Amino acid sequence: MDAFIIEGGNPLCGEVSISGAKNAVLGIIPAAVLCACSSKIENVPDIKDVNKMVDILEKLGAEIYREEDTIIINTEKSISYDVSEYEEETGQMRASYYLMGALLGRYKKAVVPLPGGCNIGDRPIDQHIKGFEALGARVLIEHGQVKLDAPELKGAHIFLDVVSVGATINIMLAATRAEGKTVIENAAKEPHIVDVANFLNLMGANIKGAGTDVIKIVGVESMHGCEYSVIPDQITTGTYMMMAAATGGDVLIRNIIPKHMEAISAKLTEMGVTVSEEDDGLRVTRTKPLKACNVKTMPYPGFPTDLQQPMAVLMTIAEGTSTVTESIFESRFKYVDELRRMGANISINGRTASINGVKELSATKIRATDLRAGAAMVLAGLVADGETKVVDIVHIDRGYENLQENLRGLGAVIRRISE
Ligand code: UD1
Repeated sequence: MDAFIIEGGNPLCGEVSISGAKNAVLGIIPAAVLCACSSKIENVPDIKDVNKMVDILEKLGAEIYREEDTIIINTEKSISYDVSEYEEETGQMRASYYLMGALLGRYKKAVVPLPGGCNIGDRPIDQHIKGFEALGARVLIEHGQVKLDAPELKGAHIFLDVVSVGATINIMLAATRAEGKTVIENAAKEPHIVDVANFLNLMGANIKGAGTDVIKIVGVESMHGCEYSVIPDQITTGTYMMMAAATGGDVLIRNIIPKHMEAISAKLTEMGVTVSEEDDGLRVTRTKPLKACNVKTMPYPGFPTDLQQPMAVLMTIAEGTSTVTESIFESRFKYVDELRRMGANISINGRTASINGVKELSATKIRATDLRAGAAMVLAGLVADGETKVVDIVHIDRGYENLQENLRGLGAVIRRISE
């Protein structure tokens, strides 16, 4: 098991460039199997979840070529619609659920193990299933597998009961190859939904309204390969913004889309951080003490749940009492115990954490309990007084490309050890 050793107390300064969005590319790679074709995808991050997804597709029979941040996915030869043998791989990430929509779209049937992913609360897939059934699929869950079978896929009007990123993309994938028109109401609006829709449209799909809460899809009979470049990662960008703010640094974060960062920029500004837009980036500078603030996680364009944990670390060293309310996942406060071990003053009442700022965090051994909590632990180590050891960083490797190299480039003292 690898761990990070971090010597805290160094302000981050310099420039960092952001890699492609994990949650976009994990929808785009399965989308590429919707037809017998070859697609080239650029700005693909080198992270564990992407490598796992590529590995699964290769095992299903796709030919995949990879060079630096570009992958070519060739599915001209038929691939298998049965993923059941690869339960270990699919169990290590959430996004394996996109194989359901993509394979159902192409083959009208699929067998896919139930997905894994971060343990952050109840994560049902009932809305995905409701969508597939509305499109005409019979869905059976047995022995840990989701079995989908549609004599024919037909467009439908689907109203999602909850705003779900995964269900929106999954239904979009299947509906792209259904006969007729599908309307998804109460759809999620995250930037990665727009990115997957843009990729599908370049492949010949007919999708309108992605980025709003009503998405209209007219099914197409044939699709073709395309070339596409994935958008930059909103959550990675936000993580570096918070790292710059927490350490009292001055960092230019390049290759990003500032519009995607508005909820985060607004909160950091409220806390006394300067966030300014430059050419293709945002510059984050802090010279004054951090002020307390209140945050509630919401679907996009609200404050993202995936940045709730790093935000909470910032609050632990802000002047006054902050609150963070988690409205998407009910068990997303598991990391709080780790922060308490560093001297953070946090009390939890239901879905709200009240955080009384302390002067500094004290370095100790802490655990990455999941992917985003892991990034928060690294952030805590960057501001703590001394040497912090973050264990279980395998979670962090799922979603952050070159984290320690990037941080070292910004002046952090961090190294990876293998135990
Ligand atoms: C995706 C992201 C994850 C992010 C989350 C919210 C990927 C691979 N993962 O996860 O990083 O934290 O969006 O932005 O893109 N729900 C249901 N039934 C369903 C589906 C969801 O009740 O069928 C509920 C969930 O329990 C949760 C809420 O809807 O309370 C939102 O979940 P959803 O947007 O689906 O998250 P994921 O797709 O799992």
